[in-house]
Order: sequence, then structure tokens, then C-alpha cells
Amino acid sequence: MPQTSQIAEPDALPEPRLKDCPDWVYLLQEFRRVYHDGSAGGSKKIRSHRRRVREALSAAVDANPVLSPRAPQSKPVVAHLNRAFDMGARNMLSSFSRALTHVADKLHWEYGYARVPRSLEKKYAYCEVVGPQGPVRSDKLILGFVLFAPNTTYPQHSHRDIEESYISVAGEWSENDAAIYAPGSLILNHAGEEHRITTGETNPCLLAYAWIGPENRLAAPDMRFSKASKSRLQQGI
Ligand SMILES: [Fe+2]
Repeated sequence: MPQTSQIAEPDALPEPRLKDCPDWVYLLQEFRRVYHDGSAGGSKKIRSHRRRVREALSAAVDANPVLSPRAPQSKPVVAHLNRAFDMGARNMLSSFSRALTHVADKLHWEYGYARVPRSLEKKYAYCEVVGPQGPVRSDKLILGFVLFAPNTTYPQHSHRDIEESYISVAGEWSENDAAIYAPGSLILNHAGEEHRITTGETNPCLLAYAWIGPENRLAAPDMRFSKASKSRLQQGI
């Protein structure tokens, strides 16, 4: 009687870690570069913020975490992403936007609000690349990108306990009607500070952002618009 040959089951492959996925590593190198090389403009607070972002990012990379990819997800504004990449290819942060193109099919775009106003549904979305939800896990830092369609007003809001910076990767934007910021510019919003963003009429705007704050707040940011903005949104203004 023939003997049944026993074929050993192959061992399950280990889950990929950050350093097994060079596209993510190179993207984080670009983040580190802009937070390292850019000027603080003489501001001690901005210099301190840049340093804290770099330190938290270095800790996340050195830990070489298992990647926690989220299912790729799109939003209507992603239709403007190629234009943002085309614009990004021509400016001083071109290597940053190019690095993002290499993970573009893995990004999880979202709104972050329980109910997104209809006026924003096609105008805005963000994706995280580092943070408590992954894909690169960190409890101390969130890094991501936010994409705005042309002619967008992102309503007034603030972030409880979270310090936020934006760096333009492609396109120009204004915050609180104070100035126009071009690619490479950094804006720091301290925790609780109200801010409102507008973008130009003909092109999208792609911003990289960093959030630093207490672990419990980064895990549950509780994103809300300010009351005055909510009533304007409800009125369609
Ligand atoms: Fe913000």
C-alpha cells in the first residue's frame, strides 16, 4: 500500500516591516529632510516644533515597525492629485511629491469628520502615513498629506492639545487671510489656535502636515469645525 507523502506546510511569511518597504522609507526620508533643512525663520517655537517632529519621526523609523496598511480608499478630490504631482515636479520639493507618487495606490484618503459638509465632499481629503493607525505606527506623531481642490475654503477649526504644521508640497494657499504661502513654506498652528485655509482658483494644493500632541489625543483627535463655521456651512456660505 503506497504511503502518503507528507508535504510540510510552508512557514507563513513574516509580516513586512517598514524597512522591507523602501517606498515608505524614502517618503519618510523626504519628510525628515524638509523638517531638518528648512529654515525656522528665526522663530524659536518653529525651530522647537521642527526638532520635535524630527525626533518623533526618527524614533518611529528606528523602531522599524510592522507595517499596518489600511485598505486603499479614494475620495472625489483625489481626481486632482495628478495635477498636484505635475505641479510638484517643477518646484523645490519635487523629490517629496515624487516620493509620494510611489505609494499613491496605497493611500487611504478620508474626511476625518463624522459628517462632512456637502460643500467639502469634492474639495478635500487627507491621508495619514505615520500615526496610531499606521501605515507606519507611531503614538507620538501623525504625518500625512491633505489635498484641496481649486477654489476651496477649509472652514475655521482648531485642534485640541495638538500642535500642527503644514508645508506646501504643491500649490499655494492662504491661512486666515494673512499671506499667500508657496511650496516649501511652513505654517505652525499652536494647539487651540483657530485657522481657516483657502486655495487659489485654478489649481489644487497638496500640503504635508505634522501633528504633535499627547498620545490619547493623537489616537482620537475629535476633529470638529468651529461653531461659527458650522453655521456658515449650514447656510451654504
Ligand atoms: Fe488644521
